[in-house]
Amino acid sequence: MSNNIDNLLHEDRRFPPSAEFTAQAVGQASLYADSKKDRLGFWDKQAKELLHWHKPYTRVLDWSDAPVAKWFDDGELNVAYNCLDRHVLEGRGDRVAIYGEGEPGDQRVYTYSELTAEVKRVANVFLSLGVTAGDRIAIYMPMIPEAVITMLASARIGAVHTVVFGGFSADSLRSRIDDAEAKLVVTADGGWRKGKVFPLKPTVDAALEANGGGSTVDHVLVVKRGENDVAWTEGRDIWWDDAQAGVDAEHVAQGFPAEHPLFILYTSGTTGKPKGILHTTGGYLTQAAFTHKNIFDLHADTDVYWCTADVGWITGHSYVVYGPLANGATQVVYEGTPDAPHPGRWWEIIEKYKVSILYTAPTAIRSFMKLGREIPAKFDLSSIRVLGSVGEPINPEAWIWYHDIIGGGKAPIVDTWWQTETGAIMIAALPGVTTLKPGSAQVPIPGVVIDIVDDQGIPQDKNSGGLLVISEPWPSMLRGIWGDPARFQETYWEKFGDKYFAGDGARYDRDGDIWLLGRVDDVMNVSGHRLSTAEIESALVGNQIVAEAAVVGAADETTGQAVVAFVILKKSHIDDQTPEEASAILRKHVAEQIGAIARPSKVYIVEELPKTRSGKIMRRLLQDVAEGREIGDTTTLADTGVVSIISAQVH
Ligand code: PRX
Repeated sequence: MSNNIDNLLHEDRRFPPSAEFTAQAVGQASLYADSKKDRLGFWDKQAKELLHWHKPYTRVLDWSDAPVAKWFDDGELNVAYNCLDRHVLEGRGDRVAIYGEGEPGDQRVYTYSELTAEVKRVANVFLSLGVTAGDRIAIYMPMIPEAVITMLASARIGAVHTVVFGGFSADSLRSRIDDAEAKLVVTADGGWRKGKVFPLKPTVDAALEANGGGSTVDHVLVVKRGENDVAWTEGRDIWWDDAQAGVDAEHVAQGFPAEHPLFILYTSGTTGKPKGILHTTGGYLTQAAFTHKNIFDLHADTDVYWCTADVGWITGHSYVVYGPLANGATQVVYEGTPDAPHPGRWWEIIEKYKVSILYTAPTAIRSFMKLGREIPAKFDLSSIRVLGSVGEPINPEAWIWYHDIIGGGKAPIVDTWWQTETGAIMIAALPGVTTLKPGSAQVPIPGVVIDIVDDQGIPQDKNSGGLLVISEPWPSMLRGIWGDPARFQETYWEKFGDKYFAGDGARYDRDGDIWLLGRVDDVMNVSGHRLSTAEIESALVGNQIVAEAAVVGAADETTGQAVVAFVILKKSHIDDQTPEEASAILRKHVAEQIGAIARPSKVYIVEELPKTRSGKIMRRLLQDVAEGREIGDTTTLADTGVVSIISAQVH
């Protein structure tokens, strides 16, 4: 999509907020002025207004140990108390917190009182299993209410959760369990996906059996959901329901220091090893709650909010669990896929629960566009009043479709740019204030300072582009990479010293609005999910038939980018199968090694890869080949003929 940026920058459709919307909007224009006048004072005010502090803080920001920030650090709070107990104590106990919609159509509703009671019991279960503050809990679950309950119960006792997306393989799960040294794994027998039960517990078993079986895990807590048969390790495995029998129903939440860790979430970087992004409590919850309330214009007593992200990703952490629940919102949590059992499933859910705020990813919107507007037209979507987009640039065509077909031509769309590392939304419109522009994420949120700089770090102005940096510390920023402070420094801070380097290219248009242009490193974005070229290459060369591999993200109409691999087979294995067979074997191999999301859409078997004289693979040229573009500058190649050979092989 970045190739069309010149066209995009000429996008001239404008959508100013209606007077009616602005009149009722939560986030008003004064937020910008207030935050500009006194940025720290602004965050101080938000932290006090949005959260309950067990012990008030006296310092807002301590940046003396940069780049590790400390926000509100002499204060104490309990994240679960903020998301649960206080709503009950303040009279909101009967409000629905979660409408849990299973894929087969079963429904489980939790009020704030019920959710609080459940989290207290599970917190006591964790304590009874010997998990205490600071211990790590790995979570490998379907999108069912128990996933949210587990995260909150972990937060309640000051444990640190690491959620691993249910689509990841046993190997990926194991490497995360090992890196985090998790003591407990919480999983389910299986969950519903595309009309079938997909097993989860067997993958946990395989993960824990790997490497000779020894691991840091003492117990595996298993929710019964799929009713699929599972193997059982006595003494280690415990059913969720059995564990709760007999535990105390009461649990008093204690305050933990604001810089106490809340979770580690692994995300792909430019090397083969995922990074464990560490987030803490006070600053994280402040910005998650602030953005959720203001960017989505949340009226907690009347809105029904639905974020379609899985809790395995950062969006599921900040905008399914922590932001919405801290704000006392009512939300839908849906287990399954958009097309099961029929392609109108999402629209049916919106009609059923009268969803008023929908937050999803452009890939989903583009797939719905392909299916046609007749499908959503069969449902009553008139409850929708705000739409959100996240994870990848939303092209203007998808924006307009989302606006007209799902938003009834009136709901504002907030395109939100942020990252696992930023913890919460950083660039987005304020729906009652900003005149919307399809395709642009637009402006930094109040209290956040963003610049676009050139390679030397010089800030750019209107009509020019460069690298996106965050110039001042923000409350929900990552506090490091788990166990690897050097990598934290090197990845984000080395390039510009005091500015956080996001890894994204960006451009200002003539009005000074920000357009995101995609990653500038070897990270791909497939359906809004981050994947590393190096990680997939290393999975490929781990297969016995492969000599060398190069992976690129090639533009794809639906998924933004698609994984395309170029592979040289080992001479000894070249004749073992046809290139088509080799390609099928390797696609399957990557899915098994990393997870189905990483499966290449294409694997081309080639004889050479384009390399510089020093041996570096020129991925840019492979990207040209994969996208069917004219090949760029090949003069630095050791052998300039290679690309045309590959090109001929591929097309
Ligand atoms: O390239 C940007 C893209 O997604 C990356 C962050 O990926 P992840 O940590 O997995 O978090 C995704 C959900 C927050 C960014 O570096 N990205 C995210 N949101 C947008 C986006 N690109 C363009 N527009 C967005 N709204």
